[in-house]
Amino acid sequence: MNIAVAQSGGPTSAINASLAGVFKAARSSGKIETIYGCLNGIEGVIKDRMIDLGKAIPDDEAAELLKRTPSTALGSCRYKLPDADSQPQVYEDILSCLEKHGVGAFFYIGGNDSMDTVAKLSAYFKEKGSDIKVVGVPKTIDNDLPCTDHTPGFGSAAKYVAVTTQEIIRDSSVYALESVTIIEVMGRHAGWLTASTCVLRANGEIAPHLIYLPECEFSAQRFLDDIREQQKKHKAVIIAVSEGVQLKDSKCLRSDKLDVFGHQQLSGIGKTLEELVRSEIGCKVRSIELNVMQRCSSHIASATDLDEAELIGAKAVEYALDGKSGIMMVFEREKGEKYSVNISCADAALVANKEQFFPMEWVNDEHNNVKDEAIGYFLPLIQGEVEIKMNNGMPVHFKLDM
Ligand code: F6P
Repeated sequence: MNIAVAQSGGPTSAINASLAGVFKAARSSGKIETIYGCLNGIEGVIKDRMIDLGKAIPDDEAAELLKRTPSTALGSCRYKLPDADSQPQVYEDILSCLEKHGVGAFFYIGGNDSMDTVAKLSAYFKEKGSDIKVVGVPKTIDNDLPCTDHTPGFGSAAKYVAVTTQEIIRDSSVYALESVTIIEVMGRHAGWLTASTCVLRANGEIAPHLIYLPECEFSAQRFLDDIREQQKKHKAVIIAVSEGVQLKDSKCLRSDKLDVFGHQQLSGIGKTLEELVRSEIGCKVRSIELNVMQRCSSHIASATDLDEAELIGAKAVEYALDGKSGIMMVFEREKGEKYSVNISCADAALVANKEQFFPMEWVNDEHNNVKDEAIGYFLPLIQGEVEIKMNNGMPVHFKLDM
């Protein structure tokens, strides 16, 4: 049989490692002939935009380069699959495209919105008597998928955020001036990535002195009081704030435009808080929005993350060949001192459109920082450095001629 694989949602530094994992496992299985890559996620299937990955990834060297390249090599989409009853034509187009290419299993690498597609498609195929298997491979820097210990892409993003925060700490402390530096971190409604800055304590850093997560109610007045309190102890106050923090009664510079999943583009809270500090406290203040750098900075990727991302993609192929469908692959963390994970699966419907939030028992009573207990969860995920192929002093990336 043939298979097809697509990538969906916001990019990460590890989503291509999962693609490489699917590709390599399929190629070495001896059971799969052509491995199709669908361009721009499920939209590529609807529009029959498929490429032969065997040609695009000619050898092991290319597969290794793909593994180390950030973002989605096949392109991505934010496409909400309608219900089959309301728009049957979309489903018919998908089925006919996959049948035309002799596809027996479809792999969708994505987040909670993409698992909605996995759940809907597998249910539709079963209902139509088609034997095509649909398997979800998780990814997201937000780390907000239920049923899995963590998500591929998160470890690399957390490593970038921690390393960059450490560098910002060095830079922000040089003047004999009172200052406030606000670092805005992605993560949507879940504070995992912002909270992960606590790993710096493992290397003796005290900053970020304040950490604000979207799981907690945010008050501008308390924020200013917290800063004044920290200023009694630290000349340069460093703050990590999640993009998802909701500031009531503020003219936050956010876009009102929603995407098809009803998600608001969240960037801007850092700048808004910067202006608040400037007007209310009046000291030197700077905000830094880490923006897309935190999901595409593969030069500081976590080797653990890329290796796990590749492995979970490879396992997805095993599960599909074993006849599983309508599932998402998951990590289960083993108990014990030494970090290790098992890979198994969960029903994709349990993940679809759902969010796993940062645990409140790891947030301090004042809701302005993260407890030390969280450090042990995060640290293993950022371990290991990736060897990168360089040219003219810059990393070499895998690119498709699209
Ligand atoms: O879901 C991953 C994510 O990077 C979020 O952290 C962020 O809010 C969102 O995607 C940004 O979406 P877009 O790439 O559409 O701007």
